[in-house]
Amino acid sequence: MSEGTRSHWGSKAGFVLAAAGSAVGLGNLWKFPYITGENGGGAFVLVYLACILLVGVPIMVGEVFVGKLAQKGPVGAFGDLTPRGSPWKLVGALGVVTGFVILSYYSVVAGWAMHYVLLAARGTFSGADTPEEIAAIGAHFGALYADPTLNVLWHVAFMAITIAIVIAGVQKGVERAGRVLMPALLVVLAALAAYAATLSGFGRAVSFVFGLHTEDLTGAGVLEALGHSFFTLSLGMGAMITYGSYLRREDGVVATSFVISGLDTGVALLACLALFPITFTYGMEPAAGPGLVFVNMPTAFAQMPGGSVWATLFFVLLTFAALTSAVSLLEVVASYFIDELGWSRPRAVAVLGVAILLFGIPSALSGGTELFGSGFSTAIAGALGQERGKNWFDGLDYLASNWMLPLGGLGLALFAGWRLDDVKRRAALSEGGTFGRIVPLYLGWLWLLRIVAPIAIVLVMLHAIGLL
Ligand code: PHE
Repeated sequence: MSEGTRSHWGSKAGFVLAAAGSAVGLGNLWKFPYITGENGGGAFVLVYLACILLVGVPIMVGEVFVGKLAQKGPVGAFGDLTPRGSPWKLVGALGVVTGFVILSYYSVVAGWAMHYVLLAARGTFSGADTPEEIAAIGAHFGALYADPTLNVLWHVAFMAITIAIVIAGVQKGVERAGRVLMPALLVVLAALAAYAATLSGFGRAVSFVFGLHTEDLTGAGVLEALGHSFFTLSLGMGAMITYGSYLRREDGVVATSFVISGLDTGVALLACLALFPITFTYGMEPAAGPGLVFVNMPTAFAQMPGGSVWATLFFVLLTFAALTSAVSLLEVVASYFIDELGWSRPRAVAVLGVAILLFGIPSALSGGTELFGSGFSTAIAGALGQERGKNWFDGLDYLASNWMLPLGGLGLALFAGWRLDDVKRRAALSEGGTFGRIVPLYLGWLWLLRIVAPIAIVLVMLHAIGLL
């Protein structure tokens, strides 16, 4: 499609809001704290920050830029920028599959957040004083996790909302809402972190998150940090290519990529600062796994003045953050069928949305049934020489975040770094910003993309499977 006919963001703020909405999500508030807890804190956080800076940001610039250049989603972008029949298209296709897989279990976790909105609004998380009452707060998660019906219902509810938004094409409305809700999320998190700073476990939490305990870091942990830097920035599957494709020529891509990455990282660190003081103050386990945020935050809410209000606000904002990310996942999958296969938007979104919903059912059943218990992911982990994984849900997350996203990112880095014509690349990067004209910056980015990011990805993968 020529630039004249493709719809574009009304303003650059539209792009920033959508991209930040995609990036900030369950990855920041649910996943980052729990994997930080599982990997022993400090050293893991440092590796994660290095991955964001050296791999994530350069690839983010690359993705947004490729999208803007091609004015197409991932498959079309790789297809259009290379000769017919070129295998580069496969990188885009991998992204579509990855988006499909991620949304299938992402929706289950978002469903938990919705369930917690109800629990919170009913006053479940308030006025706990005795140790028994406090323990009972945490037990809500175990009950939800093991309940197949509730998990499936909430998963269906969340997918239905996501499908409705993407069909109606009202993403723009959702993004506008993000203009209010994103700052609200930051304010609430900051307030919770300030509250957490008054707790006795604050010191231990800070040294857990920021102290360097290298002995706790494993090869698998490094892979997880790398994978998460892709997951949290929505990289490696084409979401940023798709969003970049709606940019106009005069819009710059570099400064915004930094803003989005910085915001995303800030939210993740703030979430840890709110969560871990609570964990240590109440003698809870940092390595509690996927239930961490659903157990620890309510425990604190239950003892705060106005706890129900804070709890409701927190889980509403968590649900909303998940929604803006889910919309971007479904958009990538659906737009492949719309742009490349000529399906109508309602048909593509409905068919793929329902397919994702069905594919997600085993994830929704993972906590409560033996059937989707350890077999699947132990098999995957075993094949990759690792002992890991508990169930289908875990196995999919492991495969998608730690392997599929980094592989997609590797493809993008090699493509944008080596395959694109240098003159074109540089000229296009100079539009809407000075970046392309500042030689050291441009070359720094280029060599991060060409050499540093690919080598880091390959080394971390080889190390994780024990070949290094
Ligand atoms: N970045 C989102 C989050 O942190 C998840 C996501 C991954 C969204 C990949 C789009 C693509 O929750």
